[in-house]
Amino acid sequence: MERTFLAVKPDGVQRHLVGEIIRRYEVKGFKLVGLKLVQPTRELAEKHYAVHKERPFFAGLVDFITSGPVIAMVWEGDGVVASARKIIGATNPLTAEPGTIRGDYGANIGRNIIHGSDAIETAQTEIALWFSPEELIEWAPSLSSWIYE
Ligand code: RTP
Ligand code: MG
Repeated sequence: MERTFLAVKPDGVQRHLVGEIIRRYEVKGFKLVGLKLVQPTRELAEKHYAVHKERPFFAGLVDFITSGPVIAMVWEGDGVVASARKIIGATNPLTAEPGTIRGDYGANIGRNIIHGSDAIETAQTEIALWFSPEELIEWAPSLSSWIYE
């Protein structure tokens, strides 16, 4: 089953959006398989955003993501990688659609509340970076037959 890595960024934690964000993925029907509060080190943040290391915003991005605790999560479900990104909305909250997390709660590209893996392979790399295998829990949701045919 497909999995994605999501993280409520320090602004989302500070703004008390953790419960609201988890709620959106729960009611959608995705399955939570990993969850923890993490104070990211610079090493972890630099690895996580390594694809952006030559970009002018990289240093500020690493400063921001290490500025407080984040909620690191792994969610599972058919098509969860792309669907989770749709629920997050566009990178810039000012252009993100209303109804998306960034569209509803954000007002600045550097404070866009939540991270989501952008592809299945990226998700696998990010899950392995943030979680050890024993932190990911296999469990059988009792509502499965009401969510999947
Ligand atoms: P994320 O990785 O955090 O989920 O965001 P994303 O895929 O929507 O966007 P990405 O292109 O991966 O950019 C990573 C983060 O860098 C910041 N950014 N700033 N000032 C800028 O032009 C700019 N562009 C990107 C954003 O905070 C973005 O989430
Ligand atoms: Mg990205």
